[in-house]
Amino acid sequence: MLDVIDLNIEFHDHLVPETVVHHFNLHMDEGEIVGLVGESGSGKSMTALAVAGLLSRHDMKKTGKILFEGTDLLHCERSRLRALQGNEISIVFQEPMTSLNPVYRVGHQVEEALRIHCPQMTRQERKARAIAALADAELPDPEEVYAAYPHQLSGGMRQRVMIAAAMVCEPKLLIADEPTTALDVTIQAQIVKLLKRINREKRTSILFISHDLSLVRRLCGRVVVMHNGYQVESGPMEAVFDHPKEAYTKKLIAAIPDCRKKTVGKDGRFQKA
Ligand SMILES: Nc1ncnc2c1ncn2[C@@H]1O[C@H](COP(=O)(O)OP(=O)(O)O)[C@@H](O)[C@H]1O
Ligand SMILES: [Mg+2]
Repeated sequence: MLDVIDLNIEFHDHLVPETVVHHFNLHMDEGEIVGLVGESGSGKSMTALAVAGLLSRHDMKKTGKILFEGTDLLHCERSRLRALQGNEISIVFQEPMTSLNPVYRVGHQVEEALRIHCPQMTRQERKARAIAALADAELPDPEEVYAAYPHQLSGGMRQRVMIAAAMVCEPKLLIADEPTTALDVTIQAQIVKLLKRINREKRTSILFISHDLSLVRRLCGRVVVMHNGYQVESGPMEAVFDHPKEAYTKKLIAAIPDCRKKTVGKDGRFQKA
């Protein structure tokens, strides 16, 4: 479904060009959840924006290929890209307050992708679809949320609204760039559970980006580790976790609190944490 081949991203807005992503490769099958991890500044968001087709600045050079179902997103027509964005490929960002416009009601914003991609829908059909998407994102009282303004909702609810807006056209690929980083631990766990359910029920492929390896471990089948713009290691979650090859990955894993420690279960036996 998605094949990123030798992606390089360079900034040309300084005297010396700066490469922020080097030789990045990624293959994703339909229905897969892949984690992209690495410290802040390692190039995760740049990679995510490129895959979402949102890096179009002229002072930025991108080489390689991003094949989404055979279409190269780096070299296709603008109109083709626009037809895919929000429709087949959606993105959710870290800070839902800045992604939501404070002056519009939630419903209007959830309907945005429908207005673009399903112009034949009537107002009532759009509303019904948006409320269904809010309900799918497990928002209580979706009709009330539909009529609310973003500031009337909690941070966790706003992130659910963003997920509803991203899912309203039922895309094949959902990119979630640090979707839980601004939220507290309980809400983080709920959002991870929601993403899992979306993946299971709708077969949506998810590229889950996080600096938090323990969250990635709970959600993803495969993981790609990035450091300073380079892909350090990638593979099935278990393999990377249990037998990390690279020193950098070992360091990331060692930094997870209690991750490798054994705990004693109710039956008195050792169990993995
Ligand atoms: N306008 C810019 N010019 C040059 N470098 C930039 C610019 N914006 C971001 N960067 C650099 O790109 C690198 C990757 O950033 P990013 O993808 O946001 O990292 P991450 O999401 O992993 O925290 C960082 O080192 C950042 O400093
Ligand atoms: Mg980032």
